[in-house]
Amino acid sequence: MARSSRRQPSWLSLSLSILLLAVFMPAVMAVKKHDFKTCEQSGFCKRNHALADDIASKGRDASPYRLDPNTIRMKNGQVEGTILKTTSDSERIKLPLIVTFLDSGSARIQIDEEKRQRGDIELRHSSKARKERYNEAGSWALTGAGLQPQKLGKFDKGDESTTVTWGPSNQFSATITYAPFGVEFAVNNTKQVVLNERGFMNFEHWRPKIEKPVKEEGKEEETKDEPAVTGEDESTSWDESFGGNTDSKPKGPESIGMDITFPGFSYVYGLAEHASPLSLKETHGGEGNFDQPYRFYNADVFEYELDSPMTLYGSIPFMQAHNKGSTVGVFWLNAAETWVDIVKTKQDSTLGLGGHMDTQTHWVSEAGVMDIFVMLAPTPKALSKKYGELTGYTAMPQMFGIAYHQCRWNYVSDEDVKDVDRKFDKHNIPYDVIWLDLEYTDDKQYFTWDADTFPDPIGMEKQLDEHGRKLVIIIDPHIKNKAGYPIVEELKSKDLAVKNKGLNIYEGWCWPGSSHWIDCFNPAAREWWKSLFLYNKMKGVQSNVWIWNDMNEPSVFNGPEVSMPRDNIHYGNWEHRDVHNINGMTFHNATHHALISRAKGENVRPFVLTRAFFAGSQRIGAMWTGDNQASWGHLAASIPMILTQGVAGFPFAGADVGGFFGNPSKELQTRWYQAGAFYPFFRAHAHIDTRRREPYLLGAPYTEIMAQALRLRYSLLPSWYTAFREAATDGTPIVRAQYYVHPHDEYGFALDDQFYIGSTGLLVKPVTTEGDESVNIYLADDETYYDYNSFKTYRGAGKHITVAAPLEKIPLLMQGGHVFARKDRPRRSSGLMKWDPYTLVVVLGRDGEAEGELYVDDGETYEFEHGAYIHRRFKFEKGGLASQDISASWTPKDNKKKSAYLKTMESVTVEKIIIVNVPKSLESKTEVKVAGDGVKSGTTANLSYHAAGEGNAAWAVIRNPAVMIGADWRIDLEVGGDVKSEL
Ligand code: NOJ
Repeated sequence: MARSSRRQPSWLSLSLSILLLAVFMPAVMAVKKHDFKTCEQSGFCKRNHALADDIASKGRDASPYRLDPNTIRMKNGQVEGTILKTTSDSERIKLPLIVTFLDSGSARIQIDEEKRQRGDIELRHSSKARKERYNEAGSWALTGAGLQPQKLGKFDKGDESTTVTWGPSNQFSATITYAPFGVEFAVNNTKQVVLNERGFMNFEHWRPKIEKPVKEEGKEEETKDEPAVTGEDESTSWDESFGGNTDSKPKGPESIGMDITFPGFSYVYGLAEHASPLSLKETHGGEGNFDQPYRFYNADVFEYELDSPMTLYGSIPFMQAHNKGSTVGVFWLNAAETWVDIVKTKQDSTLGLGGHMDTQTHWVSEAGVMDIFVMLAPTPKALSKKYGELTGYTAMPQMFGIAYHQCRWNYVSDEDVKDVDRKFDKHNIPYDVIWLDLEYTDDKQYFTWDADTFPDPIGMEKQLDEHGRKLVIIIDPHIKNKAGYPIVEELKSKDLAVKNKGLNIYEGWCWPGSSHWIDCFNPAAREWWKSLFLYNKMKGVQSNVWIWNDMNEPSVFNGPEVSMPRDNIHYGNWEHRDVHNINGMTFHNATHHALISRAKGENVRPFVLTRAFFAGSQRIGAMWTGDNQASWGHLAASIPMILTQGVAGFPFAGADVGGFFGNPSKELQTRWYQAGAFYPFFRAHAHIDTRRREPYLLGAPYTEIMAQALRLRYSLLPSWYTAFREAATDGTPIVRAQYYVHPHDEYGFALDDQFYIGSTGLLVKPVTTEGDESVNIYLADDETYYDYNSFKTYRGAGKHITVAAPLEKIPLLMQGGHVFARKDRPRRSSGLMKWDPYTLVVVLGRDGEAEGELYVDDGETYEFEHGAYIHRRFKFEKGGLASQDISASWTPKDNKKKSAYLKTMESVTVEKIIIVNVPKSLESKTEVKVAGDGVKSGTTANLSYHAAGEGNAAWAVIRNPAVMIGADWRIDLEVGGDVKSEL
């Protein structure tokens, strides 16, 4: 059994495994590459690449795809027509085309196959699979917003091409050429994205399998690898074997391919999830490049390797191309296995005028319709918004979701959990959530508890609740196939499981042994799933319990590529190959909805962590980067992976802090907590074979240093929450790469080891190298940056500065010009901080001004959607700091909720304002004037001034101005006009 090393060892064998693990760790820490296909081993990838090579040698005109001009018409903001593919025996295959120009400013290109739309094909092996190409990916990935067709400007149909303009001042244009078919997108006449520029378009149309003549006896036997009638290599077209499994392919070959060029762009990003750098690499070999395309086929890649285009657990086929002038995107909406090739070419060999770099990409998918979104924007931020208009924005989490999570495989009993809980308190270390992995169940049967080790789950949950803490338990999509287990009995009797190609219930192997898989494409299965989570049905669970969905790629230990056979059948008779990359999202979605409805009127935001994901999963919950290793390399790799999640619109992301496999050194674990404190999702996790490593176990000085990192995270929670709000409304990543924040500074375009937190101006560069005691941070702009604790100043546009980073220090800088909020009273959990007062940090820019935002709501319910929230802008100008309401405009009903919420928040005030980089003229000042709503006239607050030291900025503290966090107010320093900064 391929995965035997992952199965839970018996307790008796545990110590032996630990010993063996320690001895053999370096040798076993390697991905089983042979479990997963390379492009050459993936039939359609190989065929498409061969075709591309052929076209490249013959020239683009050899492309057999031509848009028939007689079919082109414009209808309701859409251009329709038929593309004709001429086959080698001169047959014309009809491929209906729809180009929609959307009100979000994006364009959508959809190409289908007429014969299959009509169901006019025959399936082999008496298959019951659906005859159409899969066309429902959009119903999972898209939200419906931003999809309305837009009014077109010009529609100009010529003899060789049709041009359409749209968007504000008709600045966007699409030129659709007929022969070969291609589309060129431009903004103000500058080419940005070109489809089929190289002629690699491919649509493997349906055709019957032509059986080869049987050779006469005695003659050499024909092999199935022999080229068939079409002259193409059909060795993998009709069936395909890999790792001992044969895919029966009842529809024959059906792949699609398209080349997409970004002229004038040398940087591309996105394509989550891969363990690769933020700036995507070329994939045609050569120094520093990959020699394989980026692959999307959600998989449980055991001990994944770094710096690799291999597939991982999730797929977001969205790519951003960026240059100083614009940011454009392509979203390839396809749920089947997909490969993306990237090549960067210098378009003019003479380096002088006109020379520029193009990024040429080539996308191929195994099945489905062709559905491509092209997005044109001026900046990465504007592009994120457009992408979010299509696929939705991050769900606003509960506050606990962004606090610290303590996990391991496994906390072995309810007493163990309670003990860990007490020890965190004893050591004054904050945490919000403790997690239970597989072993809490009775024999891996979800919705049960092991009665010996967890006799009193409710008692355990109650203890956690005393300090506002939560429990997360794992529930996976495989259901143990065991007679008498009510869940599997229901799954079977209600016919809600995934089927095999013969339409019998599919059986495979996972943690519980023989298992069946719930088919969450089926609405009835989702309804049933909901019923299992009802409080009155689910045993041992109260309202502070949330869920972790793992293994939902799906992982099947004995299946091809550790997953399900592609010819398995899902609801609607779609083959698994059609929907594979969406499968995980459907399970995550089902659990999310089950939690929303587990009690009538509960109205709280669910928390569900997922391992597998697709475009749109951001609307449901959080993800983590799977089974990493306790190595410095994995710590470093987590940063570009999480930054890429942000680019790909799914920013609620984290990596296992400490590393899943192996035992981290104390230094590595400490540095990992310091980095993890800056992950949007912050959870420590460890494999069952590792030593216990709760932060309090490490001892001095490590425990205290980790506790400091945790306290820093907790004190900055108001700012993190505000960043989540931005992601939830605009799609802006929560942690932001250098190119994202400084889109005009080319030097930063490939930087992926330092990043900004939301719009706070906080710039962090976690230490990810053993023994390092300093880091070099690149500063793009001419603002002054300040050390977070000492206010030491750094300046130098376009330069690297060196920041000391002894073990106890996280290199964290504050960029001048920002205001951000904290809560500085140390507490045991975020829930206990709810009514605590705020500290505002005002970091004056060189112009003596600063600005920032704060978003606050109840941190739990959906009431914020009806007005119950506070959204303030803090602006320091003209010598004073003012708080201004920037919440949206309200309906009268919402206004009522807003007022009621503000009332509950009246006691929550600002207790401290720290102003960094104040002028010396404040030296003698001891009081400031406070004015505003609910403030008595003549009110003052104390100010203390702290002179600048050598290399450190001067700063001032205003204590207890007592202004309400939800009210308008202004605090005047009264220094006469503008505060002119010293720096
Ligand atoms: C695989 C997950 O990636 C890991 O985090 C978890 O501990 C194991 N499954 C066991 O549930």
